[in-house]
Amino acid sequence: MKARIEPGGFDVDLEPDRTLLQSADAAGIELPSSCRNGTCRTCICKLVAGQVRYRIEWPGVSADEKAEGWILPCVAEPQGDVTLDVPYAFPHF
Ligand code: FES
Repeated sequence: MKARIEPGGFDVDLEPDRTLLQSADAAGIELPSSCRNGTCRTCICKLVAGQVRYRIEWPGVSADEKAEGWILPCVAEPQGDVTLDVPYAFPHF
């Protein structure tokens, strides 16, 4: 599985048992984050394509936000290829 991170155009390999944030870390792409447990919303971003499921029962996004495609990548696991819109994603060198 792969994630495409726009608008930077970064490609990240995904593992099913890793969160999107962990996979991005492993690939050297830094996404905004703070709590890493689904409460602070620092990492909130748009899921442009694909599906995720959550590790925790009550991630900090409302039903309306979910319907609009907002996700919390620190607690979201991929269910296939995904495309995310994360304007503040930066590669580590
Ligand atoms: S880093 Fe806090 S909600 Fe994702």
